[in-house]
Amino acid sequence: MATPSLFSLLFGIILIHVGESKYMVYNTSQGILPDKLNVHLVPHTHDDVGWLKTVDQYYVGSNNSIQGACVQNVLDSLIPALLADKNRKFIYAFFQRWWRDQSEAVQTTVKKLVNSGQLELINGGMCMHDEAAPHYIDMIDQTTLGHRFIKQEFGVNPRIGWQIDPFGHSAVQAYLLGAEVGFDSLFFGRIDYQDRAKRKTEKSLEVVWRGSKSLGSSAQIFAGAFPQNYEPPPGFYFEVNDASPVVQDDIDLFDYNVKERVNDFVAAAVAQANITRTNHIMWTMGTDFKYQYAHTWFRNMDKLIHYVNMDGRVNALYSTPSIYTDAKFATNMSWPLKTEDYFPYADRANSYWTGYFTSRPSLKRYVRAMSGYYLAARQLEFFRGKSISGPNTDSLADALAIAQHHDAVSGTEKQHVANDYAKRLSIGYDEAEKLVSSSLACLVESKSKAGCRNPIAKFQQART
Ligand SMILES: *[C@@H]1O[C@H](CO)[C@@H](O)[C@H](O)[C@H]1NC(C)=O
Ligand SMILES: *[C@@H]1O[C@H](CO)[C@@H](O)[C@H](O)[C@H]1NC(C)=O
Ligand SMILES: *[C@@H]1O[C@H](CO)[C@@H](O)[C@H](O)[C@H]1NC(C)=O
Ligand SMILES: *[C@@H]1O[C@H](CO)[C@@H](O)[C@H](O)[C@H]1NC(C)=O
Repeated sequence: MATPSLFSLLFGIILIHVGESKYMVYNTSQGILPDKLNVHLVPHTHDDVGWLKTVDQYYVGSNNSIQGACVQNVLDSLIPALLADKNRKFIYAFFQRWWRDQSEAVQTTVKKLVNSGQLELINGGMCMHDEAAPHYIDMIDQTTLGHRFIKQEFGVNPRIGWQIDPFGHSAVQAYLLGAEVGFDSLFFGRIDYQDRAKRKTEKSLEVVWRGSKSLGSSAQIFAGAFPQNYEPPPGFYFEVNDASPVVQDDIDLFDYNVKERVNDFVAAAVAQANITRTNHIMWTMGTDFKYQYAHTWFRNMDKLIHYVNMDGRVNALYSTPSIYTDAKFATNMSWPLKTEDYFPYADRANSYWTGYFTSRPSLKRYVRAMSGYYLAARQLEFFRGKSISGPNTDSLADALAIAQHHDAVSGTEKQHVANDYAKRLSIGYDEAEKLVSSSLACLVESKSKAGCRNPIAKFQQART
């Protein structure tokens, strides 16, 4: 063994000096405190399955001159950000495309994140369906399809409705979720601006929503409208190019602003508490296609949670709508009763979102016709026995599911996006038509459904 030379000793000292660590550990482990105002930070992104771009363009991030949005970026950056701190949480609604692109290792990691509750699958359908234009059967079908995928892959059932963007809300939704799906709560962003103002003063943004007169209390659900859309309070947007001040807590750098940011946080929390029952409020930390670089959001929220809790006036925590709902229920608060729809929706004076009840009527009709055909086709498919490889109704089911999206059958999408939905329906129909023909042939040719492989009778769909 050589004795250390003067050089290596000096070099070591220099290294230690230059590399002096300023690594800061933020305490994000805070839970609910019963005696404080609890600010539930709910990190989320709202990724439409088509609007200004098609569902696939959003996924891969093409056509970014139309809208800078890439769902792959969101999910790819999210997973390491969650792994970096087990207290961080996130909710996500639909990710079939991304999921099938992942390695087994990533899938295993994501399953762990779901099981630990760090990543909560919310709503759980194939899309966040519109509530005005779809037939209620289509609402059920698209929800079922998504939930089946989640059950198969993750073994969990989503508990919470998350209809944050649809343009007004139907009592049918409350009935379906409360009586049929068995969700614990439902949250949304868009109700009439006058209704919202009134509910703020009455602290009735959060209600028990009874969706059916005849079914009464067996068809109700705890439902919350947000105080403003589904975005964070002003000044708390942390996407890469957002203008909100980031939390600068390094005293060796200029523009240190911890005190100001904590004061802003407390002021926004107290204002929201003023319009909310109980000492629990939710901040929806995200909006359309955000978290393309998830670290910027989590870095700032880590700091806010740390410094706000040191300050102690309010209690900030990473949360999810499930945790929030449980906290609300635990207070035993009684809620105002809401019946009927939240329709029509106006976001300000003279701005009624009612045109979409009838816009793109040909797409609306096409969706309805395909929906009826699908209903018949899958019954024939059942009688014949489903073929995994042969023609089946899967692609029609898939196309119909995303066509219920609140920028699809609603008619609020761009023309090339409307064409994309129609194309998917047409491909699905072609396959279902083959299935229908051979299933009918099987039914007329054989008494037993076993063994019907190559029926001779040819049935053809009449074109009307
Ligand atoms: C972090 O905060 C929690 C809740 O206040 C506290 O129990 C815990 O001791 C803190 N951890 C550290 C490392 O300071
Ligand atoms: C981009 O969007 C336009 C419609 O504005 C569409 O015609 C075009 O095909 C899209 N490009 C790609 C690469 O998908
Ligand atoms: C709380 O609400 C009252 C009545 O609506 C209002 O006068 C007051 O300014 C509000 N306080 C805060 C902090 O927003
Ligand atoms: C709510 O009610 C339950 C059951 O009656 C009771 O155990 C609990 O202590 C109550 N919680 C509060 C915060 O009052």
